[in-house]
Amino acid sequence: LLNRPLIINFKNYGEASSAEKTLELARAAQEVARKLEVEVVLAPPQPSLALVCKNVDIPVISQHVDDAQEGSTTGFFVPEIAKSYGASGSLINHSEHRIEIGVIASLAKKLRALKMTSIVCARTPDEVTRISEMEPDFIAIEPPELIGSGRAVSKENPAIITDSIKAAGGKSKVICGAGITDRDDVAKAVELGSYGILVASGIIKAKSWPDKIAELAQGMKKISS
Ligand code: G3P
Repeated sequence: LLNRPLIINFKNYGEASSAEKTLELARAAQEVARKLEVEVVLAPPQPSLALVCKNVDIPVISQHVDDAQEGSTTGFFVPEIAKSYGASGSLINHSEHRIEIGVIASLAKKLRALKMTSIVCARTPDEVTRISEMEPDFIAIEPPELIGSGRAVSKENPAIITDSIKAAGGKSKVICGAGITDRDDVAKAVELGSYGILVASGIIKAKSWPDKIAELAQGMKKISS
């Protein structure tokens, strides 16, 4: 299982979606992970998953998987195939890629059987309660209005983190994301009990990827050590 992960979701941001840029960001993250001994996890754009897995040794996860089988499933993103290319897990039900509750349950089960890490996103503590019944490895609480806003969930809505931890009842580890942009945002989240962080624009849009990843990783480290 991932240990206090700092998950970088590249989304499909143009700044990090060419092969060259994706690898530049992936390698910068790997460098920081090694130097600071922090569990940095990559969720690169879907088309580059295999490329990234091949070029770095830190964990790489899929941004989404479909509940589809190998075989005649044109265009679907099949977990078994993602795993065969080196993906060690997947985000599920990201706020920008929502799926039905029954599909979430099926995917959580499938990923468990495949020994892949499942990180299911939720928008509210009530959703956390429902999702925790499926016992995914992680539940990521992300209030949609703060995603990409530069206003951190840990500062704008600390209660949603603590309420989500309660709602999960210890069945899944709770991480959080939305608007995380500096070290304090990370430190505050971890102080509130968040087991890890999910971040996108705060890193992708930063002037220096290595500096920003190192800054956020230090926020994780300070608390977890
Ligand atoms: O998956 C993480 C994401 O939804 C949070 O986005 O840009 O607010 O860090 P951002």
